[in-house]
Amino acid sequence: MRNRKKKNGGNRLENLSALILNDSDISPETGSLFDKDRPLRLEIGCGKGDFISGVSLREPDYNYIAVERISDVALAAVEKYAEGRGLGTLDHHGGWRGPDGTVYKGERWEIPADQRGNVRFYIGDAARFLEIAPKGRFDRIYANFSDPWPKSRHEIRRLTHPGFLKKYSELLAPGGELRIKTDNDGLFEYTLESLTSSGWSVLFSTRDLHSDDTDRSIRESNVVTEYEKRFTEQGVNIKAVFAAPPVV
Ligand SMILES: C[S@@+](CC[C@H](N)C(=O)[O-])C[C@H]1O[C@@H](n2cnc3c(N)ncnc32)[C@H](O)[C@@H]1O
Repeated sequence: MRNRKKKNGGNRLENLSALILNDSDISPETGSLFDKDRPLRLEIGCGKGDFISGVSLREPDYNYIAVERISDVALAAVEKYAEGRGLGTLDHHGGWRGPDGTVYKGERWEIPADQRGNVRFYIGDAARFLEIAPKGRFDRIYANFSDPWPKSRHEIRRLTHPGFLKKYSELLAPGGELRIKTDNDGLFEYTLESLTSSGWSVLFSTRDLHSDDTDRSIRESNVVTEYEKRFTEQGVNIKAVFAAPPVV
């Protein structure tokens, strides 16, 4: 992802750090970090946050954790989410301007718990998050437009490599599912093979999500990501697969 270094990125993250989870926050009680107890959902590689901001509003009866490893990219996602939830905006003179006009410049704003909404961000590598995340607690895991890592020597880094699938199956609650979207034909075919060889059940798959009418509710409830918008504008079909882990 192309990304220019953000001015005062560290300070800006600190302003909104009430929305950001540290390693020490991640525990079986992670759900209690939200003001309401709701089923948990996870997005891996949230990018600049269009999807997580959109889906968390469209399906508000869930709590969401969005993982992104590049801090300046995560910052864009956190600020987008905060602005979308009426928590203020970037101040022209630097800092974050809260809804009451207070400007935070590099100091944490203790956003009242009942205003933080249903998304928290984890800034770090997915592999680390998957190690420390509570097992059997997630109702759904999303990985949208993850890096295809086309060279076979990098296969292990693909987010649908059997090693990652194993971690997802540990995190998912009974009845939970993984939802993948991609522009990339190679990654899509690889993902289908990886799911099958790992014993997952494919619940839905399509090579053209935006015109697939097998289940119109899927198309109609689709929340478009930044990459999805870009690839669709270029005329690339969006591939998607939803799958459930093997029952052990
Ligand atoms: C191609 S972009 C897609 C962004 C967004 N999901 C979308 O669909 O527009 C992939 C994003 O995933 C992040 N990412 C890739 N591998 C990751 C990992 N192992 N852990 C956390 N984030 C990762 C990248 O930094 C990047 O922001």
